[in-house]
Amino acid sequence: MQVYVAENYTDMSRKAANILSAQVILKPDTVMGLATGSSPVGTYQQLIEWYKKGDLDFAQVRTVNLDEYAGLAPDHSQSYRRFMQENFFDHINIPRENTHVPNGLAPDLEAECRRYNQVIQSLGGIDIQLLGMGHNGHIGFNEPGQAFELETHVVDLTDNTIEANARFFASRDEVPRHAITMGIKSIMQAQRIVMVVSGADKADIVRAAFAGPVVPQVPASILQMHPNFILVGDKDALSKLR
Ligand code: GLP
Repeated sequence: MQVYVAENYTDMSRKAANILSAQVILKPDTVMGLATGSSPVGTYQQLIEWYKKGDLDFAQVRTVNLDEYAGLAPDHSQSYRRFMQENFFDHINIPRENTHVPNGLAPDLEAECRRYNQVIQSLGGIDIQLLGMGHNGHIGFNEPGQAFELETHVVDLTDNTIEANARFFASRDEVPRHAITMGIKSIMQAQRIVMVVSGADKADIVRAAFAGPVVPQVPASILQMHPNFILVGDKDALSKLR
């Protein structure tokens, strides 16, 4: 694993955006795995800025998002489809049909998971996967204790994650209890993985994930085993990593 130390959130976002943009320049029809949460927002902003300057072209890029809440319509204010439109897709020239997010409203969630696995396969797999990490070490919505060998599946969200995401909803009760997520296996099959992490509140989990043993209790720890994993963190998040 490679570690890039950034001064702050802005610097972290620029570094991650540099890696992603190099990938798009080298392979214009890149398949990008994308993430939601506050961590990648700055990365998206930087990519949008470079697109607007004419330095990047997303016309042939294909994207697959990690996860979606079960039960939320695509245009719900907190759905991840909406998040991606507002924070990234609406500002670049990517065709809507090239962007994929699990359908949280699918009547049969298990069938939707199978369909999503096929989408990833039909694209030829993920060239570069962008990740954030939850405070309990979750990636996508792969919560502690889940098997490493799963592809896209339905998960029960933990209290910790419901609590962390409640700030985006009117009340804790409105946070969905389930989600569809790409599994650890799907993530690990990406050619390259880039994680962005910032803030002192993530320092403990960064140490557990990347300086501790590889265990299902810390889902992100498996990334230590990936041949092409890049951690881009700000100084605060990396402060406990030796
Ligand atoms: C959510 C998302 C994850 C994300 C995590 C961390 O639970 N499903 O993909 O990594 O939040 O979010 P943040 O970057 O806001 O700390």
